[in-house]
Amino acid sequence: MADRQQVMVISLLLAAICYISCARECVPAYGYQSCACYMEGVNNTKEYVNLLSLKGNSSTPRFTTKDDKGFYLSFSPCDEFSEFVGENNTGYVPCVNATVARWTKESTHRCESLGDEASGTFKSDAVISDLIKSNLTLNFKSAKTAHHSAVISLVCNDSLLQNETIFKYVGTQNIPTDTYYLSLTSLCCCPGKCGFPPVIPSTTAITPTATARTVSSVIPNTTAPAPTGAFYKLFPCLLTSVTQNK
Ligand SMILES: *[C@@H]1O[C@H](CO)[C@@H](O)[C@H](O)[C@H]1NC(C)=O
Ligand SMILES: *[C@@H]1O[C@H](CO)[C@@H](O)[C@H](O)[C@H]1NC(C)=O
Ligand SMILES: *[C@@H]1O[C@H](CO)[C@@H](O)[C@H](O)[C@H]1NC(C)=O
Ligand SMILES: *[C@@H]1O[C@H](CO)[C@@H](O)[C@H](O)[C@H]1NC(C)=O
Ligand SMILES: *[C@@H]1O[C@H](CO)[C@@H](O)[C@H](O)[C@H]1NC(C)=O
Ligand SMILES: *[C@@H]1O[C@H](CO)[C@@H](O)[C@H](O)[C@H]1NC(C)=O
Ligand SMILES: *[C@@H]1O[C@H](CO)[C@@H](O)[C@H](O)[C@H]1NC(C)=O
Ligand SMILES: *[C@@H]1O[C@H](CO)[C@@H](O)[C@H](O)[C@H]1NC(C)=O
Repeated sequence: MADRQQVMVISLLLAAICYISCARECVPAYGYQSCACYMEGVNNTKEYVNLLSLKGNSSTPRFTTKDDKGFYLSFSPCDEFSEFVGENNTGYVPCVNATVARWTKESTHRCESLGDEASGTFKSDAVISDLIKSNLTLNFKSAKTAHHSAVISLVCNDSLLQNETIFKYVGTQNIPTDTYYLSLTSLCCCPGKCGFPPVIPSTTAITPTATARTVSSVIPNTTAPAPTGAFYKLFPCLLTSVTQNK
């Protein structure tokens, strides 16, 4: 009886480990924390999800959409924008250096950041739902207005041209705080389709060889690694613990 329970516990453990290790993690590219990330391909190749070509010109938000309450929602990948700075009317609220923001020009000019560039993190094991349209999301959090954040689903569509990006409002969830769900559909949300960002030399090793090595490791045409590898590597040690407990 005890053995059966142990086997069940171990099976659940294995399922949990597989859930974590079988997901393909998208690792932020050095110096491009909320702009580009890469997934490991076969033979140590890297497939980038690179949003750098969607970057705007900093003076205006790159993508704008509207929610169901009349607020505009703007997003500038790899960039930051400011709205209503220097406007000096009572009740006007500017936002400074936001990557995602909600704003309105009705009655007052009011802009609230939903997160700056530094707050952005990639999440590659998101669960697809009514609000989440891709397993890869870019999540932002505002530092100032503690109750605002954004989750942007990065939806891959490789039949679109690079200049045909779609930015959409998906929904809002107010529990526990205001989270705006948005989606960005682009060729550049597909791993390996939009190149990779220029290499920023790390402060410790500013050598041309570092650049050359990274460049040569990028091969866009790769297949996904077999996720079962990690599973079987873990299996022997877990089997050993089963035997010992008997
Ligand atoms: C995300 O979904 C794509 C296909 O929709 C799949 O190829 C990929 O492995 C998934 N990534 C993770 C981390 O589950
Ligand atoms: C990976 O490396 C092995 C051995 O060097 C080689 O046979 C294989 O073709 C490589 N696969 C790819 C997709 O480059
Ligand atoms: C920035 O881009 C917007 C539209 O994408 C354009 O209207 C504006 O003139 C550009 N500003 C500069 C300074 O290039
Ligand atoms: C803003 O307006 C107030 C009163 O209207 C004025 O005293 C203040 O100098 C103005 N500030 C700027 C930066 O223009
Ligand atoms: C906004 O960004 C600019 C340019 O990076 C910087 O000079 C400025 O200090 C930033 N302002 C704030 C309030 O963070
Ligand atoms: C990708 O975009 C094309 C062109 O807009 C569209 O016809 C197609 O349905 C899209 N594919 C997916 C999987 O959404
Ligand atoms: C996208 O670029 C292609 C050429 O690369 C051009 O023919 C097309 O009109 C552009 N589409 C949009 C929506 O700008
Ligand atoms: C990608 O790789 C596959 C097999 O690994 C090969 O058949 C195919 O021709 C390659 N495609 C390109 C564009 O290199």
